[in-house]
Amino acid sequence: MAKGRKIYEGKAKILYEGPEPGTLIQYFKDDATAFNNEKRAVLDGKGVLNNRISEFVMTQLNSIGLPTHFLKRLNMREQLIKEVEIIPLEVICRNVAAGSISKRLGLEEGAPLPRSIIEFCYKKDELGDPLVSEEHITAFNWASNQEIDDIIAMTLRVNDFLTGLFAAVGIKLVDFKVEYGRLYEGEMVRTVLADEISPDSCRLWDMSTGEKLDKDRFRRDLGGVTEAYSEVARRLGIIKEDKGGAEILSFGGE
Ligand code: TMP
Ligand code: ASP
Repeated sequence: MAKGRKIYEGKAKILYEGPEPGTLIQYFKDDATAFNNEKRAVLDGKGVLNNRISEFVMTQLNSIGLPTHFLKRLNMREQLIKEVEIIPLEVICRNVAAGSISKRLGLEEGAPLPRSIIEFCYKKDELGDPLVSEEHITAFNWASNQEIDDIIAMTLRVNDFLTGLFAAVGIKLVDFKVEYGRLYEGEMVRTVLADEISPDSCRLWDMSTGEKLDKDRFRRDLGGVTEAYSEVARRLGIIKEDKGGAEILSFGGE
């Protein structure tokens, strides 16, 4: 499929104009960054794995009636998506204390939270994506009250669905980050899930060993990053048993 003009390049993905108006092509790079770009690496095959894992998750969410921007995977590194106007919020949902909430509130990593907690960060690299409240979001018009309500309801639904999906393959969903967009359909505007859901944007711990199967392997220099992502893909049945990551790298053409 012919790619159009590059319209945006982020840290891990590139967006191109799609084949039809209202569509874009989302390209997954192998680049990894953390701590607001201070730490960088190229991890061979990461983009291929995230493309497949995100396709798998978004397809399932679409099928339970949760609207997403995802249309279809095109090849190893690209997927066709609906063009949306990204709401400038990183929406984090946490089930277990880890990462920044552990630091901020002095909670031991691994401690279960009293209930699932949703946090909002303002998407602004120059500021390091600061934590904000609903007051900031509505006062500065980043999203309306209705959009915030929709985002909270959808994020809790994503959390319930993903918690079950991962639990079924022995993985604990500790936390994750999602983004939403405005989909303009004639006179209508709908809030839909956008961006990606992958081990780059989730904390995933093996339920029996506690082993980290996500981007914390990169952030914390634990090694075996793409091996861990492959393990997630293998358990979800996206790549075949016992062939490891090698199989996915030769899958799907392009
Ligand atoms: P945090 O504990 O560092 O705030 O991260 C919470 C979750 O959000 C974790 O699963 C990683 C994910 N996340 C991103 O995907 N992108 C980001 O820029 C940040 C800060 C977190
Ligand atoms: N700091 C974020 C993380 O650790 C992402 C980034 O800045 O690229 O995931």
